[in-house]
Amino acid sequence: MPVKMLTVVGARPQFVKAAALSAAIQKLGGIEESIVHTGQHYDAQMSDTFFTDLHIPAPLVNLGISGGSHGDQTGRMMQALEPVFVDQKPDLVLVYGDTNSTLAAALVASKMKIPVAHVEAGLRLYSGMEVPEEINRVLTDHVSTLLFCSSYVGVGYLGVEGITANVWDVGDVMLDTFQHSLTRTSSKPLSALGLTEDSYCVATIHRPDNVDDPKQLVATLEALDALCPPIVMPVHPRTSQSPAFASWAADRRPPYGALRLITPLPYLSMLSLMQRAKLVITDSGGVQKEAYWLGKPCVTHQRWTEWVELAEMGVNALTGGDPSNIRPRVEETLLRWQAKPFPTVAVYGDGHAAEAIVQRIKEWYASA
Ligand code: UD1
Repeated sequence: MPVKMLTVVGARPQFVKAAALSAAIQKLGGIEESIVHTGQHYDAQMSDTFFTDLHIPAPLVNLGISGGSHGDQTGRMMQALEPVFVDQKPDLVLVYGDTNSTLAAALVASKMKIPVAHVEAGLRLYSGMEVPEEINRVLTDHVSTLLFCSSYVGVGYLGVEGITANVWDVGDVMLDTFQHSLTRTSSKPLSALGLTEDSYCVATIHRPDNVDDPKQLVATLEALDALCPPIVMPVHPRTSQSPAFASWAADRRPPYGALRLITPLPYLSMLSLMQRAKLVITDSGGVQKEAYWLGKPCVTHQRWTEWVELAEMGVNALTGGDPSNIRPRVEETLLRWQAKPFPTVAVYGDGHAAEAIVQRIKEWYASA
């Protein structure tokens, strides 16, 4: 009998991760996967293009739950997920990362005594639970039965918290998707924007720390706008929906600064753009790692990074969340990188994380 698994996703980075696992399940068999989409990210640009371009199977159900406060959103997701789990009777519920969708599914499943598998387990900031994603990931890890870490760092953190059973460093499923997609990138997205290779930077800013406080957001946009042009910024909906962003963008007059604001890109276009950029500036977890895999210098505009391996290797310069540090970090990073391109070490596995996860799930099920 195949393992009956429900995968719960809701946000863009989870679609990128789910693509790798669904492909590995189709290749290796032994698991019958159905996808439940909570609807946290719902539009064509943030959701549909990912399912189409990355060949993710259509969701069994889309719960259509987005917006609202954290409590409201998580609560509505829990209410909607419970009847789906009752109806489907899965052997396992699998979740990715640290969104409200992750936590809602993990709580509902664990209370129904359905084992939970957590992919990207053990990621920590140890920031005193200041960041909503940290709360989601810590709680999810502590109710999970199977824990798949992206590197050795996660295994160590889980050990410190007393979680040692069924914990594996399998590598990062985002690397699997990245590697499978590299042959499908092209220079078309650049040409469409009138850009040439190595003549521009890519920026993404969407974390609550940078977006929720209007002063921080405007100072960040000003700092990016004051850099050498062009800085191409696909604007995340959380950013574009901020009134501070809307009034800043509306007040812009010629001569314009460095920023070129565009709508969120499909995954392959985003990879194509980063692949040919001079430098990446971001507060995105996924974009930090992709810049590294592409061998691109990266400045991370955050107080902390979850991906400590990159900071420790010195390939990822942190601004500490201070917009006035963006320019000096960019200048130092470019100088260092021109002197000696950064190394690319295989800390996130070999691009076969999803296959390792499928294998471990089947072994666990066979021995249960
Ligand atoms: C983070 C949080 C996650 C949170 C999410 C909100 C971590 C560990 N987690 O993910 O809990 O829900 O922010 O979004 O970091 N991309 C495109 N087109 C674009 C921009 C990005 O395809 O225009 C792709 C990137 O190439 C990458 C992925 O989207 O593959 C990254 O998604 P992003 O929304 O930046 O989320 P994260 O910061 O990775």
